[in-house]
Amino acid sequence: MAISRLIVEHFRNLNAVDLEFDHGFNFLVGNNGSGKTSLLESIFYLGHGRSFKSAVTTRIISYEQPHFTLHGRIQESQHQWSVGLQKHRKDGTTIVKINGEDGNKIADLAHLLPMQIITPEGLTLLNGGPAYRRAFLDWGLFHHHPSFHSAWSALNRFLKQRNAALQQTYDYSSLKIWDVELAKLAHQVSQWRAEYAEALRPEIEQTCQLFLPELEISVSFHQGWDKNTEYADLLRENFERDKHLGYTFSGPQKADFRFKANGLPVEDVLSRGQLKLLMCALRLAQGEHLMHEKERPCIFLIDDFASELDQNKRALLAERLQQSQSQVFVTAITADQLKQMQPEKHRTFAVQEGKISPLG
Ligand SMILES: Nc1ncnc2c1ncn2[C@@H]1O[C@H](COP(=O)(O)OP(=O)(O)OP(=O)(O)O)[C@@H](O)[C@H]1O
Ligand SMILES: [Mg+2]
Repeated sequence: MAISRLIVEHFRNLNAVDLEFDHGFNFLVGNNGSGKTSLLESIFYLGHGRSFKSAVTTRIISYEQPHFTLHGRIQESQHQWSVGLQKHRKDGTTIVKINGEDGNKIADLAHLLPMQIITPEGLTLLNGGPAYRRAFLDWGLFHHHPSFHSAWSALNRFLKQRNAALQQTYDYSSLKIWDVELAKLAHQVSQWRAEYAEALRPEIEQTCQLFLPELEISVSFHQGWDKNTEYADLLRENFERDKHLGYTFSGPQKADFRFKANGLPVEDVLSRGQLKLLMCALRLAQGEHLMHEKERPCIFLIDDFASELDQNKRALLAERLQQSQSQVFVTAITADQLKQMQPEKHRTFAVQEGKISPLG
């Protein structure tokens, strides 16, 4: 699966961009502030309905414009889709179109466009809170389990209702009926997560062996409460504490996926470059796992490719990305930084003050 053409209007400093991409490597080269990250952000937005930079969408729409528009042509073997997304400043509405039809959801776009992003800020996957690692696991579950998305949404609705009810009730019996349903969903989601984490483990270990042979990386999944306790029992036992706190303390909303290097937490012992390599290994492993299991290639967006990586590691990452046969978008400030990454077939674009043009 690859984006063969992308049209971007009024997205940050990209006012009118229309590009045909290579199905393999695409390089974006330009000075600071020219629009490289913005182009990756627009691709990410098309696949997620949100940005990886700003939570406030109106900051993404070009200054003084009423909306931004993204159009993509997606190709996967014999199939082709045309997808569009428009976001309005005034009322915050989002319009999603697939093959010209309205009424589609962001999740439909996300299913069509599995993508992985690697940015300097993305180290939060390793040194940020558990929410980043849950998002990592849940990305996989979203693409592997057709029912995950609805189960997870239902679980969150139950939790929200429960948290609201906790503030109003003094008697556990009024919560019990909801907790039975919540517990069912919690066990289902946790089981999926545990199975997925286990299935991903060999792929992660193998990629880490290649990128960080000097370290022994181990992974472990934590479901968010003691694994020998029934969640419904825990909810009942912890009612008084949850009521005191005003929210449900334990559960799948607290799950984590932790990484250790030689038995120690990676965020404490790895260098910045090693952390970046580990993050790349995790994202690559996850993308490749999707390819192996579902034959769905994933798009890789790599911002500021060169930062923190020495020449050997850049070459290693490039080689591994080529093997994955994925479509890859890579930004760099100078073409020189991409020297170690020279696949036969690729396209390079010059980015200058919001204008993007193919080179060569
Ligand atoms: N809503 C907006 N409307 C117009 N321009 C914007 C908006 N938001 C940000 N910008 C500008 O867009 C430009 C492009 O930023 P971008 O992050 O894409 O640059 P970059 O090429 O990735 O630079 P760097 O090499 O420093 O990472 C910046 O000059 C920024 O100030
Ligand atoms: Mg940038």
